[in-house]
Amino acid sequence: MNYADWLAFAETQLTGNKKTDPFINPKVDASLLLQFVTGCSRSFTLAFSETLLSPQELAQLEKLLQRRINGEPMAYILGEQPFWSLNLKVSTDTLIPRADTECLVENALDCIHRRITCKTFTGHLDILDLGTGTGAIALALAQELRSMSKNLFSFSVIGIDLVDNAVSLAKENATYNKIENVNFLQSHWFSSLKGKNFDLIVSNPPYIDEKDPHLQLGGVRFEPLSALVAREQGYADLHYIIVNALNYLKPKGWILLEHGWTQGEKVRSFFDVNFWHNIQTLVDYNQNERVTLAQLKS
Ligand SMILES: C[S@@+](CC[C@H](N)C(=O)[O-])C[C@H]1O[C@@H](n2cnc3c(N)ncnc32)[C@H](O)[C@@H]1O
Repeated sequence: MNYADWLAFAETQLTGNKKTDPFINPKVDASLLLQFVTGCSRSFTLAFSETLLSPQELAQLEKLLQRRINGEPMAYILGEQPFWSLNLKVSTDTLIPRADTECLVENALDCIHRRITCKTFTGHLDILDLGTGTGAIALALAQELRSMSKNLFSFSVIGIDLVDNAVSLAKENATYNKIENVNFLQSHWFSSLKGKNFDLIVSNPPYIDEKDPHLQLGGVRFEPLSALVAREQGYADLHYIIVNALNYLKPKGWILLEHGWTQGEKVRSFFDVNFWHNIQTLVDYNQNERVTLAQLKS
């Protein structure tokens, strides 16, 4: 079988499954699988579409195609996912980074800018990413800060996760993307951070209600519940982080939290106005309430 025949075959198979799994994109997915197995670019597979596949390539393609037909996300099959300007290794130990989360990174950079241009800035910036997973948010911020800081200020980024394998994955991603000034450690939220204080805390914690029917659909079925689901209709971790962040922020420090698009109002209500101000929820690229931020009063 040559490249063109296999692409046509795979597209037909995937189109058959699109009815039950709307997340399947037959043309793109078939092409990505072929590129992955042959190691050739999309343009090469199209320009030299009469190239014959070896028996080993065919056998590997068959296995990968079956995984995709079963609904497994492309990122888990290919082992990588782009995020911000990084390429991240992914595994079933944690969430596949989402484009929505880039909204959190953008707004965190705004807060960082406000912090470093404020008169009381000490010249060193400490940033914490809670529930770091692949390290997506921590690494994107560290990458931006590298070019932003030049020799004008120093910074350090810490990413923590409950899951040991996620911590190892985040460390691997730091090396893979050649990012320094970032450390990853295992911790149950703030438990390993006693005595530390941060200018900025960011988090995309689990926030889905365990009864949410979307958990039974598409690629989410392959992601670990430890990365998705929180008690109290999805609010338990958001609430815990907000209440405890008080003890881990420097005066006038910022917190930014990603949450579900219907959760903004309740998340805002978790901030005690005796301690917090500038509480606001920001919308993502689809105009959905996605990130709530707040600043410690003093
Ligand atoms: C929604 S995922 C976010 C992953 C990553 N930050 C991202 O945006 O792609 C939530 C992460 O929180 C971690 N997590 C869940 N409970 C935790 C806890 N009690 N303490 C620390 N991390 C936790 C999960 O293992 C998972 O990696």
